[in-house]
Amino acid sequence: MEQEIKKWKKLMLIHKFALDEVNTKLQILNEEFQHIHQYNPIEHIKSRLKNQEGIVRKLERKGHAVTPENARRHVHDIAGVRITCSFTSDIYRVVQMIQHQRDIQVVILKDYIKNAKPNGYQSLHLIVEIPVFLAASTEKTLVEIQIRTVAMDFWASLEHKLFYKFEKEIPQALGRELKSAAETMKVLDEKMEAIKREMDFVKQGGTFL
Ligand code: GTP
Ligand code: MG
Repeated sequence: MEQEIKKWKKLMLIHKFALDEVNTKLQILNEEFQHIHQYNPIEHIKSRLKNQEGIVRKLERKGHAVTPENARRHVHDIAGVRITCSFTSDIYRVVQMIQHQRDIQVVILKDYIKNAKPNGYQSLHLIVEIPVFLAASTEKTLVEIQIRTVAMDFWASLEHKLFYKFEKEIPQALGRELKSAAETMKVLDEKMEAIKREMDFVKQGGTFL
């Protein structure tokens, strides 16, 4: 039993370290980008460690025995980072920067921006693997990274609240409204992107006819 508790504690600790590593990397990339382009692609970074209750719930939902080994193998979001960007193009920029990090391996990429979920959810999800260097071992650890625009984030947090408010069964009419709101967010993001392109064009010395 004591061995088991030790293993759970180590699991949590390793994921905390992985989160710290990823956070530092993202901050460095953002600051370097700011230094070169006088502009930051990342608006905001939020990270969280899934609590043990959440891990147990997920293992049970997936039909796996509750062990630290299974948690490591089957729960890919123990360490989670959410990045919000102002513009959709920044999301792909951030993905590229992550992919270019030599010690980060992108294991899964899901692009719910190109292909929104049926409910309208948009976001780009990565599962990455990062080495955590301990005194006597190196632990390859998974981190889930969700990247979305401020508008997509606004939508996702409202949808999340409703999902729980209605105990995971959002009434149909409300679901349709939500989906329509998601489509409006997409149009808004496209408009903002177009404005930004025009702004960049002017900054580079271009003028409109
Ligand atoms: P889990 O559902 O977490 O087991 O993973 P999955 O294999 O379904 O992966 P996916 O990439 O679809 O979702 C991972 C995470 O993204 C979820 O845990 C949520 O935090 C978020 N997410 C996915 N779909 C939705 C959605 O429809 N609405 C909201 N608000 N969040 C979502
Ligand atoms: Mg899911």
